[in-house]
Amino acid sequence: MERYKSIIPNFKAFRDECQKEAVQAVRKNSLKTCDDFEEKLKKDFPEASKSPWNRDVYRLPRNASPGKNMLHWRGEYYVQEESASLPVEILNPRPGEKVMDMCAAPGGKATQIAEKMDNEGLVVANDDSSKRLQSLHANIYRTGSAIIDVTNYDGRRVPGTDSFDRVLVDAPCSGEGNNARRSFKASSKEERDHLSDLQFQLLEKASQLIKEEGTVVYSTCTFAPEENEAVIRRGVDELGLELQDINTDAPHRRGVEEFEGTEYGEEMSKTVRVYPHHMNSGGIFVARLGK
Ligand SMILES: C[S@@+](CC[C@H](N)C(=O)[O-])C[C@H]1O[C@@H](n2cnc3c(N)ncnc32)[C@H](O)[C@@H]1O
Repeated sequence: MERYKSIIPNFKAFRDECQKEAVQAVRKNSLKTCDDFEEKLKKDFPEASKSPWNRDVYRLPRNASPGKNMLHWRGEYYVQEESASLPVEILNPRPGEKVMDMCAAPGGKATQIAEKMDNEGLVVANDDSSKRLQSLHANIYRTGSAIIDVTNYDGRRVPGTDSFDRVLVDAPCSGEGNNARRSFKASSKEERDHLSDLQFQLLEKASQLIKEEGTVVYSTCTFAPEENEAVIRRGVDELGLELQDINTDAPHRRGVEEFEGTEYGEEMSKTVRVYPHHMNSGGIFVARLGK
């Protein structure tokens, strides 16, 4: 990860955080729970505290096991890293819309989308891994996300054009934002280059799937600019997408304008990078684009 020293301010805090376990977090699911959620949560996790920027997310102690709790099994919450809840906050889906989650398994973000839409409209949750669809189906059922239809396409070959209000591309990536805690090693050049091409092709299909006024949100959980700003640069230059500024209360840094001699441009300040030390959570990159 030393590779990123020049773009991660406060590198010491970043490194120190990566030596620790992530803070556990759960996202309240209003499709299944009621007003007494916080009371019930605090009964089992007295130290639970609300995220300062996302009123649906609660932080739990690092050693908590929220996946073994009845509130989880009843779908009253979804175990999700705090930073992972950011892309859907930025996607901002509304009830009644038609939304595509192109790389959806195991369903953390697809179920968050259905919850934000109050189970009104349609969410197509797609993933090309049939194995991972099992957990996607289980999570949809457990959370009562009744408006989600599941499909099993390679995202680059999803049929149709101009049909969705919003498309989320939570792209397959080298996962450095999670791996930092395990190995603190950056991904290889070969892996980054291969993924960058795939990610661009997924973004290209997403740009075809949105309606004229539609929105695409692109996210990864990696630090590599090749998989983040480089993909967005190509989206703007080659697909004619318009990069939109992101306003969020979540602690973050802006996307990088240059890295290792490659210029991505000033516009990248409209994108967002969250590092592990920002909210004791995984790393994430988010960009929002329109046609
Ligand atoms: C970062 S994970 C998605 C996590 C998910 N959005 C969530 O919040 O739970 C990336 C997903 O992309 C899927 N994937 C990889 N290549 C794909 C492709 N070509 N088309 C569609 N999905 C793909 C993987 O199977 C994996 O489930």
